[in-house]
Amino acid sequence: MSIHSSVKRVTTHVLYEMKLKGEKIAMLTGYDYSMARILDQAGIDIILVGDSASNVMAGNETTVPITLNEMIYHASGVVRAVNRALVVVDLPFGTYQGNSREALQSSIRIMKETGAHAVKLEGGSEIKESVERILSAGIPVMGHLGLTPQSIHKFGTYVVRATEKEEAEKLVEDSRILEEAGCFALVLEKIPASLGKRVAEERKIPVIGIGAGRHVDGQVLVLHDMLGITQEFSPRFLRRYHNLHAEMFGAIQNYINDVRSLDFPNEKEQY
Ligand code: KIV
Repeated sequence: MSIHSSVKRVTTHVLYEMKLKGEKIAMLTGYDYSMARILDQAGIDIILVGDSASNVMAGNETTVPITLNEMIYHASGVVRAVNRALVVVDLPFGTYQGNSREALQSSIRIMKETGAHAVKLEGGSEIKESVERILSAGIPVMGHLGLTPQSIHKFGTYVVRATEKEEAEKLVEDSRILEEAGCFALVLEKIPASLGKRVAEERKIPVIGIGAGRHVDGQVLVLHDMLGITQEFSPRFLRRYHNLHAEMFGAIQNYINDVRSLDFPNEKEQY
């Protein structure tokens, strides 16, 4: 029997076992109770309360503005919905960089106030101390390398990262540092598939890709993008599984027409 179908609860240990057995890990973002219930019931392995909430929930252009309190609000709803999935929460920009004590305090707030199972941080060697301090409190940490959206103002563009040798070698070295520091998994975003494959082969911890090719240990997408709720964002790595925008648009138009034409509510829909 496969590991994912036999476990009642996905833990970091289950994810290692899945990698060892070559079972791919399915991860999606989630930001609220109702969606998280569907994700969990459908059997997703990991729900990431991503700081992409800043884009898809709050309408910001980048992930930079979202606050720790806002992440805690989103994560609390997700955790209340979940029975099986591992819930990982992004530490937002400005709550961990350059100050490992603050990184620990932010992580403790997330764990205490939401009941989530792990936190995710962006960056490599420069956040090693923060990762180690968070881990010293028994909080599991997921790393994130490649296109790290909190650094968008440094990159200046959302193009594929690590296409040049120097950046690719730094990414491999950072993945080693994060594994050694104790991260239980890594996200690799928007990098060449060959580099994703190399990192997944060199690391013992699960490597989950978003635009990192098919040879990594699992995949993650932003829920609103893969459901087709968002329309503007169409990178090559995104597969849309539905056109929920069109379906919702149609349903809402039908409702408006029914209200205006006095079709809703009818006799059976009133007291
Ligand atoms: O915030 C987010 O949604 C993420 C994923 C893109 C991995 O970090």
